[in-house]
Amino acid sequence: MKSVLIVDDEKSVRDSIRMILEYEKFDVQYAEDGPGGIARVESGDFDLVLLDIKMPGEDGLKVLRRLRQGHPDLPVVMISGHGTIETAVEATRLGAYDFLPKPLDSDKLVIVARNAAEHHRLVTEHRRMQVMVEGKDAILGSSRKIRDVIATIERVAPTDVRVLVTGENGSGKELVAKAIHRLSRRSGKPLIEVNCAAIPNELIESELFGHERGAFTGATGQRSGKFELADGGTLFLDEIGDMSLNAQAKVLRALEEGKVERVGGSRQIPVDVRVIAATNKNLPEAIGANLFRQDLYHRLNVIPINVPPLRDRPDDIPLLASAFTEDICQRNGMAVKRFSDGAVRSLQAMEWPGNVRELRNMVERLVIMTPGSYIEASHLEPGQGGGSRGAGDDLLGAGGTFQEFKDRAEAAFIRKQLEASGWNISRTAELLDIQRSHLYNKMKKYGLERRG
Ligand SMILES: Nc1ncnc2c1ncn2[C@@H]1O[C@H](COP(=O)(O)OP(=O)(O)OP(=O)(O)O)[C@@H](O)[C@H]1O
Ligand SMILES: [Mg+2]
Repeated sequence: MKSVLIVDDEKSVRDSIRMILEYEKFDVQYAEDGPGGIARVESGDFDLVLLDIKMPGEDGLKVLRRLRQGHPDLPVVMISGHGTIETAVEATRLGAYDFLPKPLDSDKLVIVARNAAEHHRLVTEHRRMQVMVEGKDAILGSSRKIRDVIATIERVAPTDVRVLVTGENGSGKELVAKAIHRLSRRSGKPLIEVNCAAIPNELIESELFGHERGAFTGATGQRSGKFELADGGTLFLDEIGDMSLNAQAKVLRALEEGKVERVGGSRQIPVDVRVIAATNKNLPEAIGANLFRQDLYHRLNVIPINVPPLRDRPDDIPLLASAFTEDICQRNGMAVKRFSDGAVRSLQAMEWPGNVRELRNMVERLVIMTPGSYIEASHLEPGQGGGSRGAGDDLLGAGGTFQEFKDRAEAAFIRKQLEASGWNISRTAELLDIQRSHLYNKMKKYGLERRG
């Protein structure tokens, strides 16, 4: 059912519009003045607004401006009384969908309302399709599980609620965060990403909140933090499970107060930021081990979205493999190759500890290394260009270039140290005598993660 909001101070006008549109199966609601109308729009889900131009207090044009800013896709039809026709024309210039002169002609009202509501449906539908289907950040997949994820994204995106995205490495958490931002009212403003694991502990505070000149050694100038940069938009706190307790306390405060303070500063800077967080860690476990704050967890986890591992949705593999193949061939100026049905079945039978990222990498290797235009199941066997990788690989027997050998050796060595320290990143970094963030980047590069 289409829903319409009438904003008019005259009861008789509201009542007659309501009668006509309810007969046309619209769900009709109303507000008596501008501020009331804006409040209704903020809390409701309308397909159309009918807005009177002349009202006591805030007039229709003012309200129109505010609606256009916050809800650019929502059609607004102006209702103009005697002497306000010129204003109505001005309103269409400001982005009003159309205008209706008083006294209202019921046929015209019905036609305009229907068209505007249909226009709204098409615009929203188009925006949704654009986000899900096009571009490099599309979330591909047709399995029940991924469709559920997409449905949740669509539902929460237009609101300002915080979302916590969980899932294994490479499962698509970042894509989810990006889709939420793109489908939100904040999409015209920046999406700022912070990888909490890649930033050294001592720098995370100034990264998030900025710093004043001279706040610490090396702070030669003043700098805005990510919270400030994300003002009006979305802040994506990636790998939140790796944030130090100290930084967690500061983030909690910023969320509670909607204000931030630069390191070394004393001014409270208000910020309007929607926060999306992601992690591959089990946060309740981390809370149990006193590594993560429970209060922050509850603040972030208003809507949880769990991205299921690829092995639980093998139905998505044919689509993902062919989309990746197409993309990779195009990027490399190659004629498009294809996977045989047998090869696709082999891909579907695999475990994919590195999830979609691992699938993409393997498809890339296969597409580049396999001669001919068909990739067969036999090409997927180890040593055939695709092949499995990991600690079990025979370092010397695997062939390849010198660089590939060095990478394999490095990956195997790091994995061994990680295992020795129980996958504690800080401890391993100490053992290897490298920066934690550096270790983290290497782990990412080689797809190193705890198994099982
Ligand atoms: N459903 C999907 N459709 C298309 N591409 C996908 C999908 N899911 C993941 N990918 C691709 O897989 C790669 C990894 O995705 P992404 O970075 O979003 O995962 P992640 O969960 O954030 O990983 P990490 O835990 O390592 O941070 C990216 O190249 C992404 O484009
Ligand atoms: Mg990620």
